[in-house]
Amino acid sequence: MGAMKPWHPDTTAVDGSSGEPGRIDLEHVQTLREQFVDFMLGYKFAIDEITTKINILREDFNSTHEYNPIEHVGSRLKSPESVLEKVRRKNYPMNLAAIRENVLDIAGVRVVCSFISDIAQIRDMLAGQEDITVLEERDYITYRKPNGYQSLHLIVSIPVFRSARTERIPVEIQIRTIAMDFWASLEHKIYYKYRGEVPPNLRSDLAQAAEVATQLDEKMETLHRQVDRTGHVRTG
Ligand code: GTP
Ligand code: MG
Repeated sequence: MGAMKPWHPDTTAVDGSSGEPGRIDLEHVQTLREQFVDFMLGYKFAIDEITTKINILREDFNSTHEYNPIEHVGSRLKSPESVLEKVRRKNYPMNLAAIRENVLDIAGVRVVCSFISDIAQIRDMLAGQEDITVLEERDYITYRKPNGYQSLHLIVSIPVFRSARTERIPVEIQIRTIAMDFWASLEHKIYYKYRGEVPPNLRSDLAQAAEVATQLDEKMETLHRQVDRTGHVRTG
């Protein structure tokens, strides 16, 4: 086996190519694998950090306002396969620094709220935290997607304190109501079932269903405003 090339975490290709045609440097492949696993671990920690922050907000809000704006919180870490698939599809350079910079949805957290007005509150409570930087924001609620998709998307970065270094890791946070979430999960299934080629009649039914979801959200918001925090209906 040839002499090992020096390992540069930022520039070495993650596909394990050693630069010598017809030879695979297994030791090199092992190092790459370890580096990639370690890279992905940072995103898992970032999910843990954000999830803790949201749980603290939920508990604190509940204790001070006797009201819980968060219905549930979910998270997912992109699989190594789909990270690499996205890098290839988008033609990003195949190295860890470029993946860190370009693939911003490796760590994903979804916050499902009760009411439309909760969304902005949760957004502000997160975005206002000192260690959180908002890198990108997409308001698909004010400007819903043509198919009917609604959600508030934030790409934030958060410091993760590792044993030997600190990393700033991007996390995609989706904030939406139960009705928006209900719609999105069904649309997702239909989209996959038809591999992206949803028949026109289904597409228009979905758009209509999104309209109904919005009406329900608005109705619930009105009802919510009529009921005070202790559950008493306001009559005056
Ligand atoms: P990607 O490069 O695919 O991540 O998309 P993007 O960078 O244009 O981001 P976008 O904000 O459009 O979407 C990010 C995520 O939002 C997706 O991975 C889905 O989880 C969700 N999303 C966006 N659009 C839709 C949609 O039309 N339907 C559903 N069900 N989910 C959507
Ligand atoms: Mg995405």
